[in-house]
Amino acid sequence: MTEAAKDQDPYGLREGEVAVALPERFDASLYYIGRIRTPWRQREECPKNAREADAECTIELDPRWAGGLKDLETASHVIVLYWMHEARRDLVLQAPHHYAEPHGTFALRSPARPNPIALSVARLLRIEADRLTVVGIDCLDGTPLLDIKPYFASTDAVPDAIVGWHPERKR
Ligand SMILES: C[S@@+](CC[C@H](N)C(=O)[O-])C[C@H]1O[C@@H](n2cnc3c(N)ncnc32)[C@H](O)[C@@H]1O
Repeated sequence: MTEAAKDQDPYGLREGEVAVALPERFDASLYYIGRIRTPWRQREECPKNAREADAECTIELDPRWAGGLKDLETASHVIVLYWMHEARRDLVLQAPHHYAEPHGTFALRSPARPNPIALSVARLLRIEADRLTVVGIDCLDGTPLLDIKPYFASTDAVPDAIVGWHPERKR
């Protein structure tokens, strides 16, 4: 394990994992548009995915963007995009401890990826000014918010989609 990789993640590399050198420059900039408030302070405490999450969480939107929430209260579910700020970014093969074999980063929903963007489809309970209360978020308290979109079951749901390698969740 290189010194750079150690800096990336104090958890280190597991057996079978492969890290690469990161590119020298970034290609784009983005704005954090808020923070997500959750009950979880350690990664180990977080739900593994949005469907395992039953806690009410608060999305604190930067007030400058609050006007962008107009009409969103009519949505039952929202797609929340967020930045997994504590994830390493250099892995191409990963061995999450709950799987027997390593898998490619892009075949996984791990937070460790070149751009650690996560998404959850969350149930929208209410909107009060610049705060949204949702259920179905799996991130650490204080995780930066990137975007919010309405979930359209008509276009976003693909009920017959499969992930063939996964032992339990082929669907
Ligand atoms: C397996 S990922 C799934 C992410 C997301 N639902 C997705 O599919 O895009 C969820 C895990 O990421 C970890 N995590 C949560 N917040 C994080 C953060 N801010 N930085 C790094 N890792 C985080 C926790 O271990 C959590 O259980």
